[in-house]
Amino acid sequence: MDGRDLVRAVAELGTARGRGAWRSAWRHRRADAVALPRRGAERARVPGPLTGTEPRPGGGVLRFARSELLVRVTVGGAVFWSWDGAEPTPSYAVTGGGPEPDPRAALEADTGGGWRVVSERVTVAVSRLGAVEVRTPGGTVLRRELPPRWWEPVGPDPETEADSAGGPAGADSGDRAGAAGGGRAGAGGGEGAGAREARWLSRAEVPADARFFGLGGRAAGPRLRDGAYRLWNTDPKGGFGPGDDPLYITMPVQMVVADAGTHLVFHDNTWDGRVVLREGEEGAGSGPDRPGTSELRMEGGPLRCWVLVGTPARVLQGWSGLTGAAAVPPEWALGYQHARWGFGSAAEVRRVVSGYRERGLALSAVHLDIDHYDGHRVFTVDEEKFPDLPGLAEELRGQGVRLVSIVDPAVKAGDPLHAAGLEVGAQGAFVRDARGREVRGEVWPGECAYPDFTDPAVREWWGGLYGERLARGFSGVWHDMNEPVSFAPFGDATLPRSARHALEGAGGDHRAAHNVYALGMARAGWEGLVRLRPDERPFLFSRSGWAGMQRYGGTWSGDVETGWEGLRASLALVLGLGLCGVPYSGPDVGGFGGSPSPELYLRWLQLGSYLPLFRTHSAIWAGRREPWEFGPEVAEHARAVLAERERLRPYFVTLAHLARRTGAPYVRPLWWGAPEDRALRDCEDAFLLGDALLVAPVLECGADRRAIRLPRGRWYDTVTEVAYEGPGQVLLDAPRGRIPVLARAGSVLPVRSGGGVGLEVWAPARGRTGGGVVIRDPGPGFGAGEVERYAVRWAGDAVLVETEAGAPAEGVTVRGL
Ligand code: GLC
Repeated sequence: MDGRDLVRAVAELGTARGRGAWRSAWRHRRADAVALPRRGAERARVPGPLTGTEPRPGGGVLRFARSELLVRVTVGGAVFWSWDGAEPTPSYAVTGGGPEPDPRAALEADTGGGWRVVSERVTVAVSRLGAVEVRTPGGTVLRRELPPRWWEPVGPDPETEADSAGGPAGADSGDRAGAAGGGRAGAGGGEGAGAREARWLSRAEVPADARFFGLGGRAAGPRLRDGAYRLWNTDPKGGFGPGDDPLYITMPVQMVVADAGTHLVFHDNTWDGRVVLREGEEGAGSGPDRPGTSELRMEGGPLRCWVLVGTPARVLQGWSGLTGAAAVPPEWALGYQHARWGFGSAAEVRRVVSGYRERGLALSAVHLDIDHYDGHRVFTVDEEKFPDLPGLAEELRGQGVRLVSIVDPAVKAGDPLHAAGLEVGAQGAFVRDARGREVRGEVWPGECAYPDFTDPAVREWWGGLYGERLARGFSGVWHDMNEPVSFAPFGDATLPRSARHALEGAGGDHRAAHNVYALGMARAGWEGLVRLRPDERPFLFSRSGWAGMQRYGGTWSGDVETGWEGLRASLALVLGLGLCGVPYSGPDVGGFGGSPSPELYLRWLQLGSYLPLFRTHSAIWAGRREPWEFGPEVAEHARAVLAERERLRPYFVTLAHLARRTGAPYVRPLWWGAPEDRALRDCEDAFLLGDALLVAPVLECGADRRAIRLPRGRWYDTVTEVAYEGPGQVLLDAPRGRIPVLARAGSVLPVRSGGGVGLEVWAPARGRTGGGVVIRDPGPGFGAGEVERYAVRWAGDAVLVETEAGAPAEGVTVRGL
């Protein structure tokens, strides 16, 4: 039992609420057992031999004895394929109708009785038994998906059969079952109440040298080593470290990087599933290679996937084209933010904010946690402890500090908000069970109901509620507990899998809706805020989410454990999420529970200051996270850390806009520009911040220097200005007060200087050129900002920086001379 459980258990021991939690957990269990169909007898199916083909725009349909495969190459090069007639939409991830078919791509006969679709960027080849190969234009195989296998319910529903003890019979009986490939399409996949779904398995091979990344936020990443990774958003409860999986954000999105090329594969299916990865091995000498494998097992839902091929930058650009551009946070949200569960009162918030001001520590926002609610109820305020919140907000705003509010989804049963929710639509706003009764769970305020965010009417209602937050003076929202969580002494600690959801009208149960619950909440919040304040970009970040969540904001790494392992895990999450298209995230600096040592706190602060969301936060039972709590030496170093973040804020603004325009995350793995460099591929303890900076955090206790692997080119230590040549490894000093940060020769960084924005330019190597892009903050609205391009070159003994028009750039400081 960890801190959080302990606090809760002690607090609730013997209380009616404590007993209520047990009761509701039992109720869940029983309801689940009754309302979910048991598996019963199943029969395996594979596609069988190819029987015919039919051309379609961008590819065609390939008919097999027992299924059919749709292959479509789209404009821009994204490949879609699906089995059993599944269409690309509706989808929770893919925006609009998805990209158009590429009219130039056509199905043609391949060797060996197979077929292929050739396009400019990728070739898709299908074997006569239904294996699908993704090849580069040069013919190298990037991925080979073997023919899938389904396990389908057969015979009468065992629920209605008295004698139904039979387990999953015939689960591996080969491909003799004659079930025809019926069109089981759609995002929800849950037709009738508790429909019995076919499970399926898809196994893929990748090159022996390939490395896997992604699958959402994984503490053990960013390189995903051999093991099983579940696809089911989960609150690990009370603090997680590298051994905990799954966490809050899981996604069937995988980035695979190999010598032959990079690809991203997305299995568009919201159901519970599991990915088993095994890296390959290259044969020594003349021995054969063992390919890497990725095995995906889903408990239901359609078998459809997208594949993007190219450089990492191109792949993520395609991904953001498919799933939507990332929200640009307001400028202030790129500064340093401070949170705590348990500020407890307005007076304490004032004290903390003046603490920052008096010490000259730059602070951009303060986050209020559930302790500012009245009785932990969402959209309320404890007026005794926080009288006149709008007044407090205005006062802080005058000091350049914004207020951000936590928003939890669960609504206390019997609350006025609950009553209001019951009036939404024909059925009320809340998730119900198969018999139409409201599903109740247990969260902070006690017994709660859960809005069904897969219902557009509920999203609209919920979004309107954010007006209350705006009226209180909040400038942004922080979504929490939205996996969703119900405290339960056992089980998944979420809603029963049999709970019913609207799923945009398709109807289905929690098995299909669980993973997109938080995505729906984010959409509700985002759209609500945009409606309420159309001239301001909302600031929203959410603990849980799914593919496409970047459209509505970012995330943070949840309750990361306080320790060096937690520090490493927090970097893994940011990198991994970035590769899944979620560019804005960051950890609870200092860790969620416990008390970090001054050294650990400082190292975390240093790392966090180079991540998009830079926020200190801690639990109510944990030590504080204000820098001065760790002694004068740390406070002094913290001042430098926060000042440097401020100086780099214009660079973060540029990166935020580039993420929106190109899909490139702010924080990128070292191999971003050189995926073929194997040493970089295995390097997990440093990262690129945009194109210009390489950040090498200290992740080990006691370290005062560290080894850094450099990508090709010249890199300057930004403090000493000493130049190093990559590729290769260097050992750099990392004294207490700073972590090594290197700048790429030739790069241009917008930085704050003298109240405005200046350009810091790092000299190119002699005989070389450089350049960079700057996008300035277009104000609080939705303006895209103008792209300024700069070119850097040597002219005699001077470094010249010019605009696109060839004019000398203004406000330039050249470094590294
Ligand atoms: C969850 C959140 C944490 C928050 C706490 C209380 O544990 O992850 O950030 O402080 O709930 O709201």
